Amino acid sequence: MPIRKRSTATLRRLIDAAMDLERRTMHLYCVFESQFSAREELRTFWFDMAQHESRHFGALALVAGLLESESNRGLRAATALTPVRVQHLRRLLTRLQAEAEKGVAVERAFEIALDVEGSEIEDVVLDLLQTLKGEAERERAVKLLIHDLGDLSYMIEKYTSNHALLARADELLEQQVGRLRPKAASPRRLLHSVKR
Ligand SMILES: [Fe+2]
Ligand SMILES: [Fe+2]
Repeated sequence: MPIRKRSTATLRRLIDAAMDLERRTMHLYCVFESQFSAREELRTFWFDMAQHESRHFGALALVAGLLESESNRGLRAATALTPVRVQHLRRLLTRLQAEAEKGVAVERAFEIALDVEGSEIEDVVLDLLQTLKGEAERERAVKLLIHDLGDLSYMIEKYTSNHALLARADELLEQQVGRLRPKAASPRRLLHSVKR
């Protein structure tokens, strides 16, 4: 098999694996959307989270389509997503999904979302988007992630009194803001400019 073709096939497998992770993440948030549907603000929050995962899924589907239409596209990257890493992330989501389906308190649901958003799942999408669609697309995805983390932080503050959890959310938010603009002065100020 020519090297170029093999790279394309490998990348296609990586995209499929990433799409599966995004679909599972979306499903997890759909479970919460239904569990907390009695409180409109919570329902909307989980709906938005699920919708953003569906957009990641869609972005990856588009990348797969571009790849199919031009199979000798420059394909260098996404090497960070190894089968071992995929397995690890799948196991994480399977475990969290099983727990979520049994029903959890709202605080635990936020904690699970933090575990997922802080895992490498989103990094995988960002890597693939950057590789195949360029820096602008990656930046757009990071802004959406910052938006979600800002909302998550707000919800933790509003619905729990768990300061450690809030600190974790804010730390993750700051990390992502740092990735976007290393010299950004204030995550919350930047967050404001990122809001839709
Ligand atoms: Fe995602
Ligand atoms: Fe996400």
